[in-house]
Amino acid sequence: MIRRNAVSLGRLITVALLLSSPTGIMLLVLAGTGHLAPLPAVAAWLLVLAVLAFMVRSHLGGLDALARWIHRLAHGGEAGPAPCRDDVALAETVAAVGGLRRMWQQKSAELSEAARWNESLLDNLPDPLLLLDPGRRVVRANRAATRLFGREPTGHDMTAFLRDPTVMEAVEEVLAGAASRECEFTQSVPVERVFLARIDRLEGLPADGGTAILTLHDLTTVKRMERMRADFVANASHELRTPLAALSGFIETLRGPARDDDEARDRFLAIMAEQAGRMGRLVADLLSLSRVELNEHTPPSERVDPVRLLTTAAEGLRPLAQAKGMDIRLDIADGLAALAGQPDELAQLFQNLLDNAVKYGRDATPVEVRVTAATRLPAAAGAALRSGPAVMIEVRDHGEGIAREHLPRLTERFYRVDTARSRKMGGTGLGLAIVKHIVNRHRGLLAIDSEVGEGSVFTVWLPAAPE
Ligand SMILES: Nc1ncnc2c1ncn2[C@@H]1O[C@H](COP(=O)(O)OP(=O)(O)OP(=O)(O)O)[C@@H](O)[C@H]1O
Ligand SMILES: [Mg+2]
Repeated sequence: MIRRNAVSLGRLITVALLLSSPTGIMLLVLAGTGHLAPLPAVAAWLLVLAVLAFMVRSHLGGLDALARWIHRLAHGGEAGPAPCRDDVALAETVAAVGGLRRMWQQKSAELSEAARWNESLLDNLPDPLLLLDPGRRVVRANRAATRLFGREPTGHDMTAFLRDPTVMEAVEEVLAGAASRECEFTQSVPVERVFLARIDRLEGLPADGGTAILTLHDLTTVKRMERMRADFVANASHELRTPLAALSGFIETLRGPARDDDEARDRFLAIMAEQAGRMGRLVADLLSLSRVELNEHTPPSERVDPVRLLTTAAEGLRPLAQAKGMDIRLDIADGLAALAGQPDELAQLFQNLLDNAVKYGRDATPVEVRVTAATRLPAAAGAALRSGPAVMIEVRDHGEGIAREHLPRLTERFYRVDTARSRKMGGTGLGLAIVKHIVNRHRGLLAIDSEVGEGSVFTVWLPAAPE
């Protein structure tokens, strides 16, 4: 405070001296030429000096206050009301600075809004993304990256999270000047996942030092689909080749050694008919699977009576059940709603579930089918099931049951717990895959529960048709 006053006083005297200098010179000339005595000349100059000092004092004070106000504004502090608004000479400057300040505040609000928007854009990208500085340190990471690595990667060396040599090499190349690199790598913990890593060099020199951007794209599902497709073709060919080989073998035998053996010919023809039937069933199952899959995106909407379909399926399987001393018991609730569905597909669904229950159920045990309105839906039920009434169909057998580790894979094509046994019973291993796709197409849900030694329960929930 004292220093500021002292400076103001010094400036006051300097300015007053400067302003009074023309008068001083004039008085000096008058005194020099003898028109004015030295004493009155000095007195007159001092008087002028005092008047000028008085006049500029308030103006200079205003300028000082203005300088302090602008200084506070520039340092982002609370500047308070603008000073010297009543000083006409300074009012314009104050107004201009005020306008500048308002514009700057607006720009800075716009900038922080844009930065927030960019941040949220990066955070909402589904692919993990890391921004690296020239020393491979992560300077920024989005939410997907934090989720993938299980902790915040920012501030750490990239190798603390990604140690794959091909990725590291690609990153080094881009940091050394290459425009971009791409490579695939596998992460084995906690579960195996395949990623496509893409590294691009960024232009310019941002404040945070970000030089390269590393994006990871999860290819696990694509790779799994590729493998499933390859496996499916291999399995389907294998399933067809086995009966085909048997048929070719018997044809050769009938043409050669057994040509005149009537008894052998009858036996072989019976086996050939069975193998041909097996091939026919396989082709029919493959076709219905592909048909259901093809239409999976459009849910069917006909009104279908589940009771009629289940009764027909049970009737069809009764001979097989009776041969094993089994009984198919239907327990159907009254007043059931109709299903929204495709009759042939639903018939096939019930037929496949009942067929399994009879096939894999123990001799002389019942197969119990219970149909009710669904009161409680499992957590996995989708929107279509939740949006209205639904019907629950439960098929229970008392067979050997299925070990827990097989349950998640039962609906895969050609998956069997006991391949030899299933083949011997004429199964193609496609029954439950067809069931799963039919349930999916009908926007329903399938649950399998089984106890080894006790039996299995297959439960299907299907949406009811609207009234
Ligand atoms: N109710 C069940 N009890 C025990 N195991 C079952 C039962 N249902 C299915 N499985 C097992 O699941 C496997 C797959 O069943 P799925 O219906 O898909 O094929 P499949 O019955 O062998 O052949 P297909 O249905 O074409 O005649 C069966 O091979 C069997 O091992
Ligand atoms: Mg089956």
